[in-house]
Amino acid sequence: MSDDAANGSAASDEIIRLNEVYKIFGPQPRGRPFELARSGVPKNEVQRLSGHVVGLSNVSFSINRGEIFVVMGLSGSGKSTAIRTVNKLHDITYGEVLVDGVDVQKLDGTDLQAFRREKMGMVFQHFALFPHRNVLDNVGYGLKVQKVDRSNRNEAAMRALSLVGLAAFAEHRPAQLSGGMQQRVGLARALASDPDILLMDEAFSALDPLIRRQMQDELMEIQDKVHKTILFITHDLNEALRIGDRVCIMKDGAVVQIGTPEEILTEPATGYVAEFVQDVDQGRVIKVVEVMSEPRPIPSDMSLSDALTLLDDIAGRFCCDASGRPVALLTAADGLRARSMGSNDLAKALRSDFDQCNPDATLNELYASAGRGLSIAVVDDDDGKLIGNLDPRLIMEEMGRVEQLIEGFEREVFM
Ligand SMILES: Nc1ncnc2c1ncn2[C@@H]1O[C@H](COP(=O)(O)OP(=O)(O)O)[C@@H](O)[C@H]1O
Ligand SMILES: [Mg+2]
Repeated sequence: MSDDAANGSAASDEIIRLNEVYKIFGPQPRGRPFELARSGVPKNEVQRLSGHVVGLSNVSFSINRGEIFVVMGLSGSGKSTAIRTVNKLHDITYGEVLVDGVDVQKLDGTDLQAFRREKMGMVFQHFALFPHRNVLDNVGYGLKVQKVDRSNRNEAAMRALSLVGLAAFAEHRPAQLSGGMQQRVGLARALASDPDILLMDEAFSALDPLIRRQMQDELMEIQDKVHKTILFITHDLNEALRIGDRVCIMKDGAVVQIGTPEEILTEPATGYVAEFVQDVDQGRVIKVVEVMSEPRPIPSDMSLSDALTLLDDIAGRFCCDASGRPVALLTAADGLRARSMGSNDLAKALRSDFDQCNPDATLNELYASAGRGLSIAVVDDDDGKLIGNLDPRLIMEEMGRVEQLIEGFEREVFM
């Protein structure tokens, strides 16, 4: 722990600040529309009375260096508008935006370009990679624009690719990668110039739940190494609470609450936040499909020793019949026991008393099952084919994580 953290003053190192920021869209935002918004007239009323759209209304927040600050709200609540004030993709109607002490609104031309390039990297939901360039060149592109020479550029790009676990794919074209991998290339591109700040607008929102969770974990792991300041936008409160050091909840262009995940859950500032929190309470019912892993079944004609090498650190893997339905489970414990007795026959080590579930099942339904310590086969509802492998340890871990979060909330509500 750093000295700062130890004496409780770690929160003092501010890097981004918005002060009473208003952003109003329309031909003449500064006159009446602004006065209306400023006097507290709701967004829809301002629109009705003036034909102008309130993007941001009196938004103030302060982000500390090294923090993951998540802005969360429904579509249209002003999240993207807020993030765009930080790199001046929008001029604001009123207020002040400070980044590292620099008044962003005063920047222009080459100063603004240099500020964006050097201070921040950006990742968006639909990240356009250059299809005709390989991954390495995509990641190094920003540095090329900055006229960094090729060898330094490639070195920085490789470093960033290693951070996101894609060093082996440097020569691939984007189209050869999955959606999750492409998004990681986007993240590497943002990291390549080693900026202080990462701006991530719904960066994971287009991904499947399973991949999305992996990306959240990965982002947190990367953050432990690079200690950036991350302004992360999402419409998903679960995601916000999972990765945010602090969460800012927005509605109709205004800030409703800012707090740690625990504070948001245990002390929802308004009925609006409380309603969101109810949804998180349902987050305890995380679906199997969100946490299961690739099934990668064991071919039944394999030797036991070969099959054991396939287990890696997975609790167990399944063997399937000719139509892809799981019929047996190999666990590491069973396999090693059979090996220690001199057998190399896979069939001798298999067991058939495993549990199975559907991808839409929820983790809390599987507590008892997970308690047996055996991998659970995730099978398709219709044809019974193996589509996922559920590690019992993962269930315990995920449930623990969610339960920790909602514990305080339940105390508040039910006691
Ligand atoms: N360029 C624009 N012109 C007019 N209205 C806009 C523009 N950009 C955003 N808005 C409006 O501002 C509000 C906030 O939008 P946005 O910040 O994109 O929301 P979010 O990112 O939370 O979905 C919405 O009502 C949206 O319609
Ligand atoms: Mg948006």
